[in-house]
Amino acid sequence: MLKSSPPSAAPVERPYEPNVLPASVRRITAAAIKRRKGKVIFPVITAYDVPFARFAEQAGIDVILVGDSLGNVVLGYDETTPVTMEEMIHHARAVTRATQRAHVIVDMPFGSYHVSNEEALRNAIRLVKEAGACSVKLEGGAHEAAAIRAITSCGIPVVGHIGVTPQTASLGPGYKPRTHRDRLMNDAKAVEEAGAYAIVLEVVDHALAGEISRELKIPTIGIGAGPQCDSQVLVMHDLLGMYPNSPSFAARYAELGTLATHALRTYAEDVRENKFPAG
Ligand code: KIV
Repeated sequence: MLKSSPPSAAPVERPYEPNVLPASVRRITAAAIKRRKGKVIFPVITAYDVPFARFAEQAGIDVILVGDSLGNVVLGYDETTPVTMEEMIHHARAVTRATQRAHVIVDMPFGSYHVSNEEALRNAIRLVKEAGACSVKLEGGAHEAAAIRAITSCGIPVVGHIGVTPQTASLGPGYKPRTHRDRLMNDAKAVEEAGAYAIVLEVVDHALAGEISRELKIPTIGIGAGPQCDSQVLVMHDLLGMYPNSPSFAARYAELGTLATHALRTYAEDVRENKFPAG
């Protein structure tokens, strides 16, 4: 590992220092997140590996989602649909190893909760036992209430996800903003009644997302659903400018893709011109 500054690198303002928290530090619980409703608006971010999970925790973000957006942004699939349990476990394990205090929500991939409630529960248990998930998230409204009930009944906290549901979007309903008031309100209430402790609203009409947020007792986590949600979530690679096909609602807080390419080009030039390593 390179210890000194490379010859052509720009100076780093404040080098990254990994978190070292006392061993007694405990992870944020689902119940504590639920109690934030109406008190604090909190950020959620996705992470899929050790360095980025550490950056998130270091930045003070204490709810991390190992989303199945893993498929698009890290694994190079066109959709989240092909993501497997093994892939989710592999990446979620890295995120739980990297963090100490963050609550780590792990997505249940497509097909892992659809066949039966028993299978949904079995797969949720795998995410907890094999990956260290603090809670799991699954897509769907009223029609997934029974799966949510089965998983929560064994003590595993669940986050619901309605509005645009990427696992099945390309099979029919697409990615257009969801505006159907009665259907979405009914789905949101069904997810809450089934025992979910929070719910993601993805690309839902902003006024409707506000209405759902006021109606529910559990926090709503918005993505492309406007400012009236109780929390916001973004995909890390969109936020950091590392994914070329970011959706329009995803703010880019940095351009790490450009920075990384520049650093790599500079390194390559330094090697070719025999400037690195310095003699
Ligand atoms: O997979 C994911 O990253 C998600 C978020 C977009 C909410 O489900």
